[in-house]
Amino acid sequence: MKMPKIIRSKREAKNIKTITFHCPGEIVPGQFFMIWLPDVDEIPMSVSYINGDIKAITFREVGDATSALYKLKHGDKIGVRGPKGNGFKIQGKHILFVGGGTGVAMLAPAAEEAVKKNILATIVIGVKNKSELFFEKRLKKCGAKVVISTDDGSAGYKGFASDVAKEILNNEKIDAVLTCGPEVMMKTLLDCCKDIPFQASLERYMKCSIGICGQCCIGKGLRVCIDGPVFDGKTLKKVEDFGVYKKDSAGRKIQF
Ligand SMILES: Cc1cc2nc3c(=O)[nH]c(=O)nc-3n(C[C@H](O)[C@H](O)[C@H](O)COP(=O)(O)OP(=O)(O)OC[C@H]3O[C@@H](n4cnc5c(N)ncnc54)[C@H](O)[C@@H]3O)c2cc1C
Ligand code: FES
Repeated sequence: MKMPKIIRSKREAKNIKTITFHCPGEIVPGQFFMIWLPDVDEIPMSVSYINGDIKAITFREVGDATSALYKLKHGDKIGVRGPKGNGFKIQGKHILFVGGGTGVAMLAPAAEEAVKKNILATIVIGVKNKSELFFEKRLKKCGAKVVISTDDGSAGYKGFASDVAKEILNNEKIDAVLTCGPEVMMKTLLDCCKDIPFQASLERYMKCSIGICGQCCIGKGLRVCIDGPVFDGKTLKKVEDFGVYKKDSAGRKIQF
């Protein structure tokens, strides 16, 4: 476990912040850290920014741990275990990224890497309303084509990110779809992709994060913490809980 000092804490949008810290070592977009907040909790957070030894996480304040994280300032320390899990395979000629809500946080470094590899990157950012929008400028600046959708029409297209993505899939030649967001949205996308290679990053309640406790299992024993969190479409088609339910900390099924 490393205990880096926070270099920067930046508000991105309503209840959303990015925390930047020094963390030497390789990491692939899609991988995550376990972030330890002494006396509060340890929670999984995907990497949202990769620049050599500098890494960041971007999160929404939803409960005890994320609220504690939200209050931290420059110079405060956090516990960091990882990187953990696998990452996205970034290959093809034109990749469509689809991020719902905070899902765009972990897709941003993947889109940046695609552009670096001279792959055309189109990213759909879907949020409920304009106040939740973040990373639009960052992604445009890196050279990705950014398409916004909001549920209420306050910015970009009015409607769901999956509807906008369907339009793009119908009108453009897309080699791969990479997504992170609400699971129902990702399931809808998988169903539209047919033969197009598909990768989705899943969230499940995590305890050990090293493949031992079984808390994060999906389907027939796939552990999201070490076999994922990124899974391909072929695998997900066989996972009966994908887009249907997840388990809470006590193992109870929660329908999406
Ligand atoms: C691989 C992975 C990557 C993630 N990356 C991000 C990210 O980049 N940005 C972001 O905002 N959120 C991310 N999350 C979700 C984030 O971990 C939860 O929002 C956070 O744990 C909530 O903790 P809390 O104490 O603030 O809220 P709580 O009130 O405790 O919980 C709120 C929600 O978060 C879930 N949650 C709580 N603890 C855990 C845990 N240990 N493991 C998984 N889920 C938990 C709960 O089931 C509930 O749905 C990720 C989750 C996973 C599994
Ligand atoms: S969190 Fe324990 S096996 Fe994945």
